Amino acid sequence: MLTSSLSPRLLPDSEFFHSRRDQEFDQVFPEAISRLSVRHWSPVHVCRAAARLLVVDASTRVLDIGCGPGKFCIIGATTTKGHFTGVERRSRLARLAQEVVREQNVPRVDIVRGDIQEVDFGTFDAFYLFNPFQENIMPSLRIDDDAELGPHLYTDYTMHVRQQLTRMPAATRVVTYCGACAEIPAGYVCVKTAFNDTLKLWIKTATPNQPCHASHRHRD
Ligand SMILES: C[S@@+](CC[C@H](N)C(=O)[O-])C[C@H]1O[C@@H](n2cnc3c(N)ncnc32)[C@H](O)[C@@H]1O
Repeated sequence: MLTSSLSPRLLPDSEFFHSRRDQEFDQVFPEAISRLSVRHWSPVHVCRAAARLLVVDASTRVLDIGCGPGKFCIIGATTTKGHFTGVERRSRLARLAQEVVREQNVPRVDIVRGDIQEVDFGTFDAFYLFNPFQENIMPSLRIDDDAELGPHLYTDYTMHVRQQLTRMPAATRVVTYCGACAEIPAGYVCVKTAFNDTLKLWIKTATPNQPCHASHRHRD
């Protein structure tokens, strides 16, 4: 389904964690965007595993908080039966994600251009975060100059997500990939990890937050 007329480009060896499948998938994006993939977009194997952890059945609605060019949503929708919405504050990335979804006829994906602070979490069952706000406090992770950045925004966005997740009902699922998981409030328990603990599944319970135990590790 995801094909491109562009010829394959090889990535440097140091970018070892991106598989050949990523090189193939990323060709669906223009070169300037696929070049960012190694650092800024989730790898294909992570997208597949995260989507499997989040989607319980065909009625599950997943929100990708900061979806970039839509890689996680596209892979999630083509490998599970769930519905995927991506919200992205950078216009050019949101537009690209919408174009790819339309041109590749990807089912069950909506891409919304906007700020996470404008999204009603109550219309979703599950959430995915790959370090969406880190570039505000780590200049080396800056994607481009298209968006205002700063430590105050890191705090605002992180607190907003924490507050929204706090209001969600028990059994709400969140998957985080990398990062410090500062967006996860008390009441969520890490029940599985994968890929050397970089991928974590959190489920809201009625009890206070607990540390993430390796004994719960999910076998890939
Ligand atoms: C590290 S990328 C991850 C992209 C995608 N989720 C993935 O896993 O491939 C984080 C994205 O979050 C977006 N983002 C950051 N803050 C945001 C906000 N407040 N609202 C919406 N999107 C945001 C950034 O523009 C960036 O595209």
